[in-house]
Amino acid sequence: MSHSEANRVRIFDTTLRDGEQSPGASMTLEEKLRIADTLEALKVDVIEAGFAIASNGDFECIRQISERIKNSTICSLARAALGDIDRAGEAVKPAAQGRIHTFIATSPLHMKVKLQMSPEDVIDAIHQSVTRARKFVDDVEWSAEDATRTEMDFLYKAVETAIKAGATTINLPDTVGYATPTEYAEMFRSVIKNVPNADKAIFSTHCHNDLGLAVANSLAGLEGGALQIECTINGIGERAGNAAMEEVVMALKTRSDTLPWHTRIETPEIMRASKLVSTVTGFTVQNNKAIVGANAFAHESGIHQDGILKDAETYEIMTPESVGVTKSTLTMGKHSGRHAFADKLSELGYELGDNAFQECFRRFKALGDRKKNIYDEDIVALVDDEVATWSNRMQVVTLNTYTSTSGTAVSDVEMTIDGDKVRTVTYGTGPVDAAFNAIKELIGMEPHLQLFQVHAVTHGTDAQAECTVKLEQDGRTVNGQGAHEDTITAAARAYVSAVNKLMVKREKKAPGPK
Ligand code: KIV
Ligand code: ZN
Repeated sequence: MSHSEANRVRIFDTTLRDGEQSPGASMTLEEKLRIADTLEALKVDVIEAGFAIASNGDFECIRQISERIKNSTICSLARAALGDIDRAGEAVKPAAQGRIHTFIATSPLHMKVKLQMSPEDVIDAIHQSVTRARKFVDDVEWSAEDATRTEMDFLYKAVETAIKAGATTINLPDTVGYATPTEYAEMFRSVIKNVPNADKAIFSTHCHNDLGLAVANSLAGLEGGALQIECTINGIGERAGNAAMEEVVMALKTRSDTLPWHTRIETPEIMRASKLVSTVTGFTVQNNKAIVGANAFAHESGIHQDGILKDAETYEIMTPESVGVTKSTLTMGKHSGRHAFADKLSELGYELGDNAFQECFRRFKALGDRKKNIYDEDIVALVDDEVATWSNRMQVVTLNTYTSTSGTAVSDVEMTIDGDKVRTVTYGTGPVDAAFNAIKELIGMEPHLQLFQVHAVTHGTDAQAECTVKLEQDGRTVNGQGAHEDTITAAARAYVSAVNKLMVKREKKAPGPK
């Protein structure tokens, strides 16, 4: 089939909403804005930017994304409650194209146990919520939560009600990741056949991965008549996650011979999006993950390598370049000048203000003095680190650690806190422990360390280290990242980046109602 509107699949990305619901995946406003920019560059059709009623932070984030993004529809989730819908409507008001996504559970179990509502009350709530949402926007999506465990006759009635009230997209989620592909396709077929006004809406899949079937089920949903897929970058999401966008999109692209649908996704942006989401959430991508895993395009065995050299198609069904995987290209050396550095930044997609550019250039030169070869990945790590810490209240200025196999480690750390310089020398069981103890002493906080992770940006012993630190305090969890050619400095920067986020959240929560 040709690439026409009739077989175009809308990609609805919910990394910032369902993805953020993964335990420990919370993101700051700045991080969400960066992800939204990346999703727009990917050309996703809809960005579900959050759940407006959940918190002031969520509301503000949806509002700012609505102001900023011009080429994707911006959506807020809302329960079937008038207050929820009004808040969602307010949040997406600045959007060039705004959508309200309202949902209510329709399975007997959820209605009885969770909602404690009769089926008649649920039908009434669907009518009221969709009608209310249409007062704010023309683009209203309605979801039947736990659709795959809903009685079909009731599902028909619920969908018909939602469409009659003005819903233009109908989402039938496999909320608990229970369906098989055959069942999921059949559900769409039956609903589309038995709901009299089904032709007035686009149908959507939303699959969780509890049985590892989320991507297969999403594609099966298309067989059943759906034309929108809800998914997340790297498949992050509640429990086992959601359908992974990169897998859905590349399956459609690579197997267009048998899957007659297409998307608008700019697939060369996939790898960059995957890396950003992984860095921000601290959820590493497993090496053998389809499309974006470190080994997805690696060929280890001699027979495979030989085949690849003769003709890449022997063992590669898609090119690494098609998903934005580039070979580590030697970029620059310490003699590269300001102009070449600026060109490289724009090639890598960065637009920096003057001050940020000067600081990145200074760090690039310093890196060149210490590291022989500088690759694109080095520059990305350095600039991301600089951009992430630019406006932070607390910064690491200098760090010296002394360590030996026979005793404790010592760390001498100097920081600025709101512009004031502070310094201390502290001990620890190892250099990272000593550095973290010194920082805790200087900031006067004792957050609980939930995760400390290091990975090398490129190969070789002079590679930069990229660290992720997950901290928890008073029930809030944040991730911090840091990159540096010195691993302990990268760790300390990651720790301080997380502490800065804890401070921001604390300040936002503090003022009570007036
Ligand atoms: O999994 C689910 O059912 C959801 C709905 C809110 C769409 O995330
Ligand atoms: Zn979900």
